[in-house]
Amino acid sequence: IKKIGVLTSGGDSPGMNAAIRSVVRTCAYHDIECIGIYRGYQGMIEGDFKEMGPRSVNNIVNKGGTILKSARSKDFMTVEGRKKAHENLVAAGVDALVVIGGDGSFTGAEVFNNEFGYPVMGIPGTIDNDIFGTSHTLGFDTALNTVVDCIDKIRDTASSHNRLFLVEVMGRDAGHIALNAGIGAGAEEILIPEEDLGLDRLLESLRRSKASGKSSSIVVIAEGDKIGKNVFELKDYIEENLPEYDIRVSVLGHMQRGGSPSCFDRVLASRLGVKAVESILEGKSNFMVGILNDKIALTPLEQAIKGHSEIDRELLRVSDIMTI
Ligand code: F6P
Repeated sequence: IKKIGVLTSGGDSPGMNAAIRSVVRTCAYHDIECIGIYRGYQGMIEGDFKEMGPRSVNNIVNKGGTILKSARSKDFMTVEGRKKAHENLVAAGVDALVVIGGDGSFTGAEVFNNEFGYPVMGIPGTIDNDIFGTSHTLGFDTALNTVVDCIDKIRDTASSHNRLFLVEVMGRDAGHIALNAGIGAGAEEILIPEEDLGLDRLLESLRRSKASGKSSSIVVIAEGDKIGKNVFELKDYIEENLPEYDIRVSVLGHMQRGGSPSCFDRVLASRLGVKAVESILEGKSNFMVGILNDKIALTPLEQAIKGHSEIDRELLRVSDIMTI
């Protein structure tokens, strides 16, 4: 292996830049060339490459987003697109690829590896934390801190007006952000796709909360929650059934994907980047580099994609106890 390519793909997440920096500098440390591929797989197809050295990643460890840009490439889903991408990599002398992204990006990497026997290594970068084989994906911790910070602010106005706030958070089909940030921000109820709370139990819980003397409340709702109503319909439904509540909705949206990465995400990104490059140099391929019990661990990409990142049920219990 003489030259490694690195790209970011799918939804960006804080810590991606720190991971790019780590990959580039680990290559330099081992006297290997590194190529940055812009706009994910789309840039691979279009040959949008740039040589990167240790100084091209100065001052990015603290930056959100990704300097390599990101994209969700439709062309890479076609055989012709992947063939073109492979030709470009071969022409540029790139021997292996580090893909920083989520499960869609890993699926692309796996297919690419299967088709061309091309060495690939994945680094999990998504705020959703929905990848099997790692307790944390890059950006998850930062997103949690962002959400908690927002809800703290919402709490100020909620308690001033004795209001109930429904706060919708991201996470796609997973409830990790909602559950963890909900506990951290002291939410009254947390609605996640993995657990069907049911509308009746939600109303019952809000009734109990009022009766227990609470004047304001925060309910955190994962965007993928399957309660059967979106957050605005849910507001109407609660208002109809519990008219004593003055309700507002806040959808936090893409602000959850931005911002300077937390120290945890920066350290994780640095560790994962080192391991990804060194694993390639050891001849490994088709793995994701993750963290389990604070140890860096390799998981076959196939498992990382298909496995289920379980919700921690103990957290549900903790949340219940906290809202007594
Ligand atoms: O996967 C990250 C994520 O931010 C999800 O939480 C969210 O559902 C989705 O991406 C939003 O995607 P887009 O940026 O394409 O709107």
